[in-house]
Amino acid sequence: MTVTEALNARRSIRKFVPGETIPKEKIDSLLEAAMLAPSACNTRPWEFIAITNRSVLDQIRAFHPFTGMLETAPLAIVICGLPDSQSGISEGFFPQDCGAAAMSILLKAVELGLGACWCGVYPREQLVDGIKSMLELSSVPFCVIAVGVPDTTARQRGFFDAKKVTYIE
Ligand SMILES: Cc1cc2nc3c(=O)[nH]c(=O)nc-3n(C[C@H](O)[C@H](O)[C@H](O)COP(=O)(O)O)c2cc1C
Repeated sequence: MTVTEALNARRSIRKFVPGETIPKEKIDSLLEAAMLAPSACNTRPWEFIAITNRSVLDQIRAFHPFTGMLETAPLAIVICGLPDSQSGISEGFFPQDCGAAAMSILLKAVELGLGACWCGVYPREQLVDGIKSMLELSSVPFCVIAVGVPDTTARQRGFFDAKKVTYIE
């Protein structure tokens, strides 16, 4: 699969085949894709919590109002930022770095035949605080990515919009 094919095929998937599990090699492959993402001054200000425990998945779903898809998702990856690992010219860039890692996971999921949905956490303080205490984190939860075997097909779209572009030639 080419990068273009993965970009075109990626959609937010919110319905997964119940009872399917994701093998550890695939989970690690998603995490490796995340860690291949660029980061400010290569600080890699992130850590990842891979959750397959049904009761923890249900706790997140009960707490975060827009994570209903965790009902059928066998895996959630919580990307967490480590702001204290950045200083000087890299200071404060952790949200961008975590966002790049999130996108890598979404694209890798497509390649692996999986579906995924990015659920935002940071910068909503109430969500950050709640997930942080639920998972006993010292880092800053940035997003929750639900992952599973898609139980739905989402249409591919073309999104090129010339109105969004300024060419400086
Ligand atoms: C920062 C961010 C936060 C998001 N949060 C949620 C969320 O909490 N729940 C959800 O179902 N989808 C969430 N999404 C997915 C968007 O709704 C989705 O990407 C958008 O509607 C476009 O659809 P597509 O991903 O299928 O192209 C989020 C996406 C981003 C980038």
